[in-house]
Amino acid sequence: MADFHEFYPLRRHNTFGFDARARFAVHVRSEADLVEALADPRANGLPLVVLGGGSNVVLTRDLDALVLLMEIQGYQVEDADDAWLVTAGAGENWNALVNRTIADSMPGLENLALIPGTAGAAPIQNIGAYGVELRDRFEGVRAYDRHAGVFVWLDQRACGFGYRDSLFKQAGAGRYIITAVTLRLPKAWQPVLSYGELARELTGKFALDAATVRDAVVAIRTRKLPDPAQIGNAGSFFKNPLVSAAQRDTLLQANSDLVSYPQPDGSYKLAAGWLIDRCGFKGVNDGPVGVYGKQALVLVHHGGGTGAMLLALANRIADSVEARFGVRIEPEPVVL
Ligand code: EPU
Repeated sequence: MADFHEFYPLRRHNTFGFDARARFAVHVRSEADLVEALADPRANGLPLVVLGGGSNVVLTRDLDALVLLMEIQGYQVEDADDAWLVTAGAGENWNALVNRTIADSMPGLENLALIPGTAGAAPIQNIGAYGVELRDRFEGVRAYDRHAGVFVWLDQRACGFGYRDSLFKQAGAGRYIITAVTLRLPKAWQPVLSYGELARELTGKFALDAATVRDAVVAIRTRKLPDPAQIGNAGSFFKNPLVSAAQRDTLLQANSDLVSYPQPDGSYKLAAGWLIDRCGFKGVNDGPVGVYGKQALVLVHHGGGTGAMLLALANRIADSVEARFGVRIEPEPVVL
């Protein structure tokens, strides 16, 4: 029988470090554990929550739910002519996976180094950083389909990736439980240096390899982003909002230093960190929660606060940005 823990404390299972309890929690170490947990009568009628590293959730209250603590391990490599297909168990630590592939001479994930969380969580929000998104290195996932009661394979197209978005946050929310992720790492490798700050970090280096790029990414992230082991946080708290070219032009006229990025469809992505910074929130604390001093896009929890307090601050920030710039910024993490 899968081991059900009742009123299980989740503080160590979310990187904000909020206190909340799960009605039931189960450690899932295999697909058999998963099937067994779902069939258990105690799970009957309870909503289901899957937690990997807990690095993209805000817990606002105790969860009257069955929480699956996804811990399935595994690492397999398949040689597919032009690419390496690397399959990782959903519970594998993402950064450890990045480092392992680089150590095994399979470059491609270096720009995504040091992102907190698990391999299984990576497709859910289509993690991305420094010019690369998961979907650029993705083959498919194996997942349990709760509607059909079977394990399925979902390829790149089925996963419906968008900016910090996928099937698993849209139509497939609550339906699929990812148990393994397969990455596609092309053998013909080129460093991706489209992100200005990364290119600058590597100035003067020649014969770039994946490990060198990875080290530069780690250096930048370490300077700008707080380590969740030290300060509770979930990375970027807001998504960078998309606006029309016309709206961006209007904003640019009033703010010559506006930071924006052109998108393939002609729209623009605005740097939410810049908008929040401009509204004066950088480094501002509201009791135990606040805005990180080195990056306004990151909300932090210093301890002793609640998810509700954090959301109140987030709303205040979004209201302030909307009042000043006419753009609504949306949270990136999943609010539970
Ligand atoms: N900026 C400010 N003030 C701030 C923060 C940023 O003026 O307090 C300006 C910066 O000077 C820069 C621009 O805003 O010109 C963009 O900032 P940055 O380069 O730090 O990137 P970002 O847009 O804040 C995004 C991702 C990060 C990812 C980096 C690098 C989102 C929501 N965030 O951040 O992802 O690591 O680019 O690619 O898309 C995450 O999702 O958790 C995350 C950390």
